[in-house]
Amino acid sequence: MLQDSFGRRFYYLRLSVTDVCNFRCSYCLPDGYQGKPDEAFLSASELEAAVRGFAQMGTQKIRLTGGEPGLRSDLPEIIYRLNRIDGINNIAVTTNGYKLPQRIQHWADAGLNHLNVSIDSLDSSTFHEITGHDRLAEVLEGLAKARELGLTVKVNAVLMKGVNDDLAAVLTWLKQTPVTLRFIEVMETSDQAVFFRQYHVRGDDIRQSLLSQGWQPVLRDVAAGPAQEFWHPDYAGRIGLIMPYSQDFCATCNRLRISSLGKLHLCLFAEQGIDIRPYLQTGVPTSELVQAVSEYVQGKKATHALQSHNSGAMANLSQIGG
Ligand code: GTP
Ligand code: 5AD
Ligand code: SF4
Repeated sequence: MLQDSFGRRFYYLRLSVTDVCNFRCSYCLPDGYQGKPDEAFLSASELEAAVRGFAQMGTQKIRLTGGEPGLRSDLPEIIYRLNRIDGINNIAVTTNGYKLPQRIQHWADAGLNHLNVSIDSLDSSTFHEITGHDRLAEVLEGLAKARELGLTVKVNAVLMKGVNDDLAAVLTWLKQTPVTLRFIEVMETSDQAVFFRQYHVRGDDIRQSLLSQGWQPVLRDVAAGPAQEFWHPDYAGRIGLIMPYSQDFCATCNRLRISSLGKLHLCLFAEQGIDIRPYLQTGVPTSELVQAVSEYVQGKKATHALQSHNSGAMANLSQIGG
């Protein structure tokens, strides 16, 4: 089992399958995607080779991210191939929900079990303003379809001061809707420091407000992800808070990341990564990947560098798969 020098174990691998995104979320890609859309991102075979190696090291859960993973026409094939690998028992996708009603059946047929969808506002004009797309109804339809198909569904909402931090409408929605909705604190990336200062909402303030309205913290499993969850007897849904600026966020880190071009990253922020693409080629024994990864993981730091404002290396989240 892969373990770092702090004893953290990594059973969860996030694979970015493309940097390309068609949305223009104000906190992420306000000017739209600027790179080359036809960049040679890892192929389905390379992704499969990576996951075979990581499964040997104890990985059980795969999340496919981007960019927008749905923009890859071979996403169903990727899901199918990864799902067949011994040891992998969970395949998840994080999506902006674009064309979700048409796509979700294909993903589910290929073996997808979990879906996280970004919905920053339930007001269609605010949704449009944040993402650059007037597609809230389509995203909600896709989400309902995913639930009908039996997938676990979580919703992500990045909170921005004065834009979508009035939680009344989402709380009403959660009364009837059995999904986990996660409020995410905006993370400061090197390309949007001004935005961060203007719009950052402290997760702790949201936490206090939820506690005062009768929401109760769910006991956290040691292997839980970054979200701290809350439940309420009057609500069908749950709330999660993703607060990367809080003290203990990294202590339970359980994940590693591979970028769309084949770099292994030990942390979302301020870490250069190593190129593992050469190990993913036909004919290269899996043991070489296993050895390189096991050694590199020993360098994982205790915490991220989000607080150190002098680090210029905090990539935009679309480049490293969130
Ligand atoms: P689950 O597997 O459902 O727990 O998903 P998740 O919350 O890990 O995945 P998702 O892709 O929905 O990410 C939600 C938010 O959490 C995004 O804003 C991610 O960037 C953030 N996030 C996830 N993992 C980490 C992490 O290790 N560090 C930091 N700083 N943020 C993270
Ligand atoms: N801060 C917080 N969350 C972000 N995401 C993208 N950029 C940021 C940021 N700077 C979120 C998206 C999506 C998830 C994968 O990452 O909203 O829900
Ligand atoms: Fe695209 Fe996701 Fe970034 Fe929005 S947050 S622009 S959907 S990659």
